[in-house]
Amino acid sequence: MRNTPPRRERAVLVGTKEEHLLPDPAIDFPADVGCLWELAGLVETAGAEVVGTLVRRREKPDAAFFIGPGKVGELQDLLRDCRGDFVVFDDELTPVQNRNLELRLGKKVLDRTGIILDIFAARARTKEAKLQVAKAQLEYLLPRLAGEGLALSRLGGGIGARGPGETKLELDRRVIRRRIARINRHLKEVRANRELQRAPRKKRGWPLIALVGYTNAGKSTLFHLLTGAEVAIKDELFCTLDPTFRKLTLADQQEVLVIDTVGFIRRLPHLLVDSFRATLEETVHADLLLHVVNLGSPYIEQEFTAVNDLLRELGIEEKPRITVLNKRDLVSNEFTVARWERNYPDSVAVSALTGVGRERLLEKIREMLISRVRRGKFFLPYKYGQNLSIFHDKGRVLQEEYRTDGILLEAELPKIWFERVREFML
Ligand code: GTP
Repeated sequence: MRNTPPRRERAVLVGTKEEHLLPDPAIDFPADVGCLWELAGLVETAGAEVVGTLVRRREKPDAAFFIGPGKVGELQDLLRDCRGDFVVFDDELTPVQNRNLELRLGKKVLDRTGIILDIFAARARTKEAKLQVAKAQLEYLLPRLAGEGLALSRLGGGIGARGPGETKLELDRRVIRRRIARINRHLKEVRANRELQRAPRKKRGWPLIALVGYTNAGKSTLFHLLTGAEVAIKDELFCTLDPTFRKLTLADQQEVLVIDTVGFIRRLPHLLVDSFRATLEETVHADLLLHVVNLGSPYIEQEFTAVNDLLRELGIEEKPRITVLNKRDLVSNEFTVARWERNYPDSVAVSALTGVGRERLLEKIREMLISRVRRGKFFLPYKYGQNLSIFHDKGRVLQEEYRTDGILLEAELPKIWFERVREFML
């Protein structure tokens, strides 16, 4: 007997006309998705096939159905013609609109949040991320349980129903609330544990480099190129939902830790902001950020701004940063690449896929870490005398005085080395 691959669910997308949004030529979709390119990417990532799109004009949403009665009729026809299994709205629907639409269309209806939650649920790797997503899913579900559970019973499986478990449909609100409270308790424990794990790393004083960037920019590929790490890389949005650490040894033998983070996205559903932040927590402790930009994206400016806005929200936009202009193999014109490099300060053009630019990037990382010099006064007890070479070899000793029990020093050191001897500071 031959194994036939499972049939992919067929999605019809509904969006609002945005004149400035054009299809992304880097992404090849079977349906003409127009301004819905980003949603189409999300739906494909969730494992479904986009078979049709419906675009409405920007106008006040209908309270009951979000789209007007004429559009509801059009959507019904489209679902029939395309043999669509479910509908995804690019906008956020109220629980009432969601339920009304499901009852009227007789099909599962998800909104942007629902689809992103689904992807996060499938991708979450660490315990904390799993708990965070489960919590967000329950919070999303809670208001949707109001009134009759009829519409929800359609979500019996497939996309939009992954995560806390199939039994969620039978849960009433009280049980869900209790479950959320339990998750919150677990989260506390998991976080406390993570703090413990962080402590020894900090003590070692390894500088931390965080890769950040818009989803699909190529962070995981670059992470792999830099560290030779084994991380799952697929042509899917959100491949990385949890930070992953790997060690990297620079040309001067300096060891640094590199961390890959979850991809940023425009209009992140508010329910997911917390789980997203949790995965980005490590970036707050980073010494250097590598902001990975996709040169192949026609939305490079919007994506760059979206990432900057989030970094600002996290309070880390001032951190030293290298802009990594990735996918340079997609830009054939050298002048264009040079222009990008001029436009973005501290930038290096690379191709994470082919490895072009890797050495330049490593050199830039080294420069950036070294260039950050700090001055301080230290007292080094003789029993820790082996650290004296750090001051002489890596920095500049301004004063040195040998006392009976140790050495008094005033020195300038690159920040990364400064951290290593910080415990001897006066
Ligand atoms: P998220 O996990 O969604 O945040 O994505 P990411 O930023 O980690 O991107 P990832 O490394 O998964 O790469 C996304 C896609 O871009 C994959 O298909 C990669 O093969 C492709 N890609 C990455 N770097 C390059 C590059 O330099 N050139 C080309 N042509 N493609 C690349």
